[in-house]
Amino acid sequence: MVALSTSTHAEAAEVPRRIFSPIASGYDRPALVLSLFQYRRWHRFLLSRLALTPDSHVLDMATGTGALAFDLLDRNGAQVTGADITRPMLLEAQRRVDGRGGGAKHLQLLQCSAEAPPLAAESFDAITFAYLLRYVSDVPATLRSLAELLRPGGVMVSLDFAIPRGAWYPLWRLYTDAVLPAGGRVFSRHWREVGAFLGTSIRGFYQRWPEGQLLEAWREAGFRDVRSGRLSLGGAIVIWGHKAG
Ligand SMILES: C[S@@+](CC[C@H](N)C(=O)[O-])C[C@H]1O[C@@H](n2cnc3c(N)ncnc32)[C@H](O)[C@@H]1O
Repeated sequence: MVALSTSTHAEAAEVPRRIFSPIASGYDRPALVLSLFQYRRWHRFLLSRLALTPDSHVLDMATGTGALAFDLLDRNGAQVTGADITRPMLLEAQRRVDGRGGGAKHLQLLQCSAEAPPLAAESFDAITFAYLLRYVSDVPATLRSLAELLRPGGVMVSLDFAIPRGAWYPLWRLYTDAVLPAGGRVFSRHWREVGAFLGTSIRGFYQRWPEGQLLEAWREAGFRDVRSGRLSLGGAIVIWGHKAG
């Protein structure tokens, strides 16, 4: 069952709720197609940064419909908490849990914001999050709040879109400015709006948080050995680091 947390601030929830509620149903297929079938490949790279055992407790923040959370369950047999601010996304994840019968008993779903998760300090061995930071109002505070939940030495891994460099940039602009909105329309009016919003959202985020500054924010939040890897011609970035202890 999706647990509701009182820390779901109405204001923090407003933008993601507006974007993700209308596309929650059937989210995974358009997400895969519009990423040119890279979406799951990027998830797999993120997962490859983790070394987990069946005893590990993992938090997947911004879990959405739970794609990463179910991967974590299936690959490692770990205890997984999937948290998200948007209830309709979590209800999709819950439907998948229900569809598995007892096969997802190690997955807990929780509605809360990444900025103020109602979870105990140092209670996770690993934290993952994909496509979160563009939606939060305070990136350093969010990184700090997630770091607090991690045990010393634990690993945190993130994934998000990125901006390709050099000759690939004009092609990426063409894709985000024209192809994504048109492609989104094939699925629904709401996906067209998401397609039109994404390019601006990604460019705006990296204007505020160029890659070097983002990695520095991770270090300032208490992570060491912070590294990043680009995927798909630079169109995605995975960042990972260990909590200093
Ligand atoms: C693009 S979806 C990605 C879902 C999932 N991580 C995946 O890779 O398929 C982004 C998710 O971030 C969630 N989100 C946005 N802002 C959030 C916040 N402040 N706290 C928690 N979740 C948030 C949204 O509700 C949405 O489900």
